[in-house]
Amino acid sequence: MGTAAGRSRSRFDENWSFYKGDIRIPHAVKAGMTGGITDCGSLQEGEWLDIAFTDKGMGHQQLEWEPVSLPHDWCVEQQYVQDASLGSRDGSHGYLPGGTGFYRKTFELPSEAADRKWTVTFDGASGLSTVWVNGHLIGEHRGGYIGFSYDLTDVLRYGEEGRNVILVKVEALENEGWWYEGCGIYRHVWLEQTDRLHVAEYGTYITTPEAGEQQALVHISTRICNEYTEGLAVSLHTEIYDAAGGQVCAKAVQAFADWYGETELEQMFRLEHPALWSPETPYLYKAISILKLDGTEVDRYETPFGIRSIRFDPEEGFFLNGEPLLIKGTCNHQDFAGVGVALPDSLIEYKLKLLKEMGSNAYRSAHHPPTPELLDLCDRIGLLVMDENRKLDSSRSGLSQLKRMLYRDRNHPSVIIWNLENEEVLEGTVTGRRLLKTLADTVRRIDPTRPAAAAMNHGWYENGYNEVVDITGYNYGHRDHLDIRDHEQHPGRLMIGSECASYTATRGIYEDDPVRGYCSEYGTNIPSWGCTPQQAWSDAVNNRFLTGVFMWTGFDYRGEPTPYLWPCVNSHFGLMDTCGFPKDSYYYMQAAWKDEPMVHLLPHWNWPGSEGKPIEVRVYANTGTAELTLNGRSLGEQQVDRTGYLSWEVIYEPGELKVTGRTGGREAAVKTVVTAGQPHQIRLYPDRLAGQADGMDTIPVRIAVLDEQGHVVPTADNEILFEVEGSGILLGVGNGNPSSHEPDKSSVRRAFNGWCLALIQAMAEAGPVTVRAVSTGLAPAEVVLHTSEVS
Ligand code: GAL
Repeated sequence: MGTAAGRSRSRFDENWSFYKGDIRIPHAVKAGMTGGITDCGSLQEGEWLDIAFTDKGMGHQQLEWEPVSLPHDWCVEQQYVQDASLGSRDGSHGYLPGGTGFYRKTFELPSEAADRKWTVTFDGASGLSTVWVNGHLIGEHRGGYIGFSYDLTDVLRYGEEGRNVILVKVEALENEGWWYEGCGIYRHVWLEQTDRLHVAEYGTYITTPEAGEQQALVHISTRICNEYTEGLAVSLHTEIYDAAGGQVCAKAVQAFADWYGETELEQMFRLEHPALWSPETPYLYKAISILKLDGTEVDRYETPFGIRSIRFDPEEGFFLNGEPLLIKGTCNHQDFAGVGVALPDSLIEYKLKLLKEMGSNAYRSAHHPPTPELLDLCDRIGLLVMDENRKLDSSRSGLSQLKRMLYRDRNHPSVIIWNLENEEVLEGTVTGRRLLKTLADTVRRIDPTRPAAAAMNHGWYENGYNEVVDITGYNYGHRDHLDIRDHEQHPGRLMIGSECASYTATRGIYEDDPVRGYCSEYGTNIPSWGCTPQQAWSDAVNNRFLTGVFMWTGFDYRGEPTPYLWPCVNSHFGLMDTCGFPKDSYYYMQAAWKDEPMVHLLPHWNWPGSEGKPIEVRVYANTGTAELTLNGRSLGEQQVDRTGYLSWEVIYEPGELKVTGRTGGREAAVKTVVTAGQPHQIRLYPDRLAGQADGMDTIPVRIAVLDEQGHVVPTADNEILFEVEGSGILLGVGNGNPSSHEPDKSSVRRAFNGWCLALIQAMAEAGPVTVRAVSTGLAPAEVVLHTSEVS
């Protein structure tokens, strides 16, 4: 750990030990003596109740600690439990139990480190967490969706003083939501050191009061924290760099920083011909704030930012940089196959990439603030974000969570809306209005540049509830066309399709199956409040005042199994399944959202026993026309409606079904579906062949079961065994089957309708990683990935 002048921030994710279960920790009656449990200093060896060093708990029983790296979610490692009384958090949480766990880590610091300020930051830990450092109770935090930081300067041991022990208790017992929430320190932890004079936490606020193609005005306010015991004459130098690293402008300001206080400094910059940020051109600048004392640099703080303008209009919806832009969004929870909620950054990036490839331009983080790395990625790859507060709560704790989200996230160009609540019971009530107004006022105080919204499913007409926010969200506003009616009755209202569709479909399934808990991709069993993606999207296209859609959801998620409960343990609202395998509805969105020519057809063409019977074939396309052929015979050509789909009734015979999309009479896109034979071989499709040897980078490898000719067998469920050798490990597996009770932390997984997924994580040592997939009766497959040193 470096102790040079300036600031350093290191990932504090490695070398933790984890104990699943509760350990009684008595209260301290003197500083640093919390139960004597992590403080070995004053006790004789053998007398310690020191779980940190001896693997023993109170009463000296042996505790089983296992080595773990963060992010970590122990919930996903457990068995499914149908009966909630057995400790499960019930179906809403995917029938996986909550519980209590402990994390501990030891580390050393050099003696010079004693002059510095030390802060530990947790990006997020489930439920209620308690942190002790060297026996000192440092703090408790309630709320699993926002981070928290603690100043450790006084309680750390430096140099000869000894080793440091950090102990974290995580109690993931209560529900904070009605979806799978996981258990553990499931986001990153950071250890940061600064000078006693430094930029405050989230201490810059960058806005662009003017953001035109000719020029931009960039306003930067910087909060400086002086933790010396005297007032200081300081200077703040702010430099702005473009994406290529060239300095664009710089300014300095002198100030007096009072001791043990914060000083806020304002600077304005003018940039000629700025590169504007948008989903298509996600151009980022960087501001570097340098603090100097007597001419010597003592702190250096970086803030990436973008230059863009946003505006919402009651008739025409959203404008980015003066141009109208229809929101093509999805709502998403944070889990993924194989890892629960503990996603390595590269897996978050993978999810976002899949959404962008679908043609989406916006992400709603339902129903809580995302991990900060997700917003960094949205800035970088170009996705607009509806950033969301966990709940309608203006208590001290509720406000502090909202404020942290606002301070943390307000420099992200991707963030365009603060959503303050979702479907709260108190919508439309007098009390609800007061609560919402306090939250909205907090937004206006901390970030007046973005609108505040509420994602509502009732109460639109009572007690002026929605009038205290800028944008009224419509969750499932298509019902009786109430969103369209409301626009007529309240023409000045800013509106958004905050949650749309809730279309239940299981990947590769074409008939509802209540026993196994599957829903047909034809959409024959969607919930009463839901609608088809076609209806949700065409409403937005035809009524620009709706601003666009946030489809529920981009990905299936654990928990909230709908409409069938056990054995189903996942939702299947996703346009993709929990592994990111596309469902048919993904291709509908692609046809509607992307201009690159494409065609897609459903269902698969393996229907033994159905010869001579009619089967509905649907086509999604964005070409001018689409023609369907079966075994070379034309079944007719139809005009494409991009907001809808085409349909043919086809008498089944095995063979090749093909759709040809034409624009202006010329072939633009083709897709064929072939009746596949018996499962014969495995094929691996890694997302990429190269990774970073950082102990975290994770490469998804898709696995398909093919017939002898190389066609995916769309009903295959063969069990696949994975062997990983070299510089990587198997982090987890999945197959997108919403009713699978197979473990995600395992070296085997069945295919589900032809596919399953393996997540390969790089070790810290660079080298080749061999991934082999074998299954009885199938030809095996192998791929070699390569990881290289982090530059
Ligand atoms: C909405 C709710 C979401 C999810 C969805 C399922 O009403 O906001 O969290 O429950 O329904 O359709």
